[in-house]
Amino acid sequence: MSKFTPAEWPRKLRSTEWFGGTSRDHIYHRSWMKNQGFPADLFDGRPVIGICNTWSQLTPCNAHLRDLAERVKNGIYEAGGLPLEFPVFSPGESTLRPTAMMYRNMTSMDVEEAIRANPLDGVVLLVGCDKTTPALLMGAASVDLPAIAVSGGPMLNGHWRNQQIGSGTALWQMSEMVKSGELTQDDFLEAEQAMSRSPGSCNTMGTASTMASMTEALGMALSGNAAIPAVDSRRRVMAQLSGRRIVDMVKDDLKPSDIMTREAFENAIRTNGAIGGSTNAVIHLLAIAGRVGIDLSLDDWDELGKDIPTIVNLMPSGKYLMEEFFYAGGLPVVIKMLGEGGLLHKASLTVSGQTIWSEVKDVKNWNDDVIRSVENALTPQGGIAVLRGNLAPKGAVLKPSAATPSLLKHRGRAVVFEDIDDYKAKINDEELDIDETCIMVLKNCGPKGYPGMAEVGNMGLPPKILRRGIKDMVRISDARMSGTAYGTVILHTSPEAAIGGPLAIVQDGDMIDLDVPNRSLHLDISDEEMKARLDAWAPSVEMPNGGFAQLFHTHVEGADTGADFDFLIGCRGSAVGKDSH
Ligand code: FES
Repeated sequence: MSKFTPAEWPRKLRSTEWFGGTSRDHIYHRSWMKNQGFPADLFDGRPVIGICNTWSQLTPCNAHLRDLAERVKNGIYEAGGLPLEFPVFSPGESTLRPTAMMYRNMTSMDVEEAIRANPLDGVVLLVGCDKTTPALLMGAASVDLPAIAVSGGPMLNGHWRNQQIGSGTALWQMSEMVKSGELTQDDFLEAEQAMSRSPGSCNTMGTASTMASMTEALGMALSGNAAIPAVDSRRRVMAQLSGRRIVDMVKDDLKPSDIMTREAFENAIRTNGAIGGSTNAVIHLLAIAGRVGIDLSLDDWDELGKDIPTIVNLMPSGKYLMEEFFYAGGLPVVIKMLGEGGLLHKASLTVSGQTIWSEVKDVKNWNDDVIRSVENALTPQGGIAVLRGNLAPKGAVLKPSAATPSLLKHRGRAVVFEDIDDYKAKINDEELDIDETCIMVLKNCGPKGYPGMAEVGNMGLPPKILRRGIKDMVRISDARMSGTAYGTVILHTSPEAAIGGPLAIVQDGDMIDLDVPNRSLHLDISDEEMKARLDAWAPSVEMPNGGFAQLFHTHVEGADTGADFDFLIGCRGSAVGKDSH
């Protein structure tokens, strides 16, 4: 599989332009590096491997990545490389305002420039929390030097009063239970202590676990990477093996563009359906595909994923958490089942240099309630439903496995919230004219509207409805939703309201028809009325006054194409300008 015969190796690596000679500049580069105590023979032309670390105490899900970086270094040294660790901006989902999504593209830019500008031949991407995974894959893809991802792994299961509680999912559930009177505030505070018991990312099949699974299904991580708990010793082994492997990937010149092919993205989309993965994967995979020049569209998600049964019984769609998924065999079992069902491009290459099928064909399922058979699937049709109609000309998405089946075909009266502040001001009002047959509509929460496209699409129901034991209503917005959330929630409605998409002109009392089986989302007004309202529409979201927010607002694309910056789409390669010394 190697592109190079042994006679051709060692070939001249790009790092030798910095370190491999006797000129003043070569001495300059080496001598400063040696202040870290590196022996001279480490600059003998061996592969120099960057370890791109999203460690940060402000990103608690990634706070253990320094330990993993040391394991990666061990592996790189063992294989004859020189590891050099460097930090990049770490977008932490649980802390950043207005939303971590606002910083995904910025992080990808940081990653891309850091890799290209430094004397690196390959890179290990240390990722974990939601946005860190797509951001690093996007940045690495735009440089296209050999790269391998290592996920931090999920937290141990949450445990409280003899029940398992999942990251995010339990938080949303308990918050609603407090509003409905089923749980006291003191209970809620007590449960807080039991939710996050160890290092690692969310333990549900939320966005972090989904993106770790997407990374593995794309072939950008070693097989088994997605599910190993953060504190399991095998997570450290995975890091060390990945360190060893990247050195050989550099020797083989095995690049992201060799791995992330159209077929690899199709494998990932089908995998997402099988695991009941997050709707956020739609946006992130579209953006990653754009960086490697793969023509992937929203419709691919529907066509490739609609007949995939969800077989992984994990919250928020199902019952278990990532620990059980790992003990059952993890993602390799799911990929094997896709292969057996004729739903896998078996010849797709992974970072191992082997085909994806060769990695999974011999694995076993150790718990068929956690990873179900197709006949006993959690949802016969998983995947992501892409809805279109006069309310979403460029599409909107819904996750059927997290929705209430009886609401998938529904006609209801719109109750409109102009933005998130309007929602917060009205939702607890006992006089709000709403019942469970209504459709809640939230505007101005898309990429430009919020800004950053916050995870507010799964807006909580009014307390007066919750008190009656009702847990779900149809909700529509241009926002995203946490991968740990659930409900009949229509998201990513495009074009977004802030740029005058039809969502912007929905009024209280309008009737809306949702028909998921027929993939339609229709605002029941005439074409003439639609045109008149759109003609009268004026933007309410202002351009930010300078700084990154202005750059974001000016250049962010729509959710339907991945919400990347227009000037970042594509691969720019690893060539870099001359030395300035
Ligand atoms: Fe970081 Fe969920 S908040 S992984």
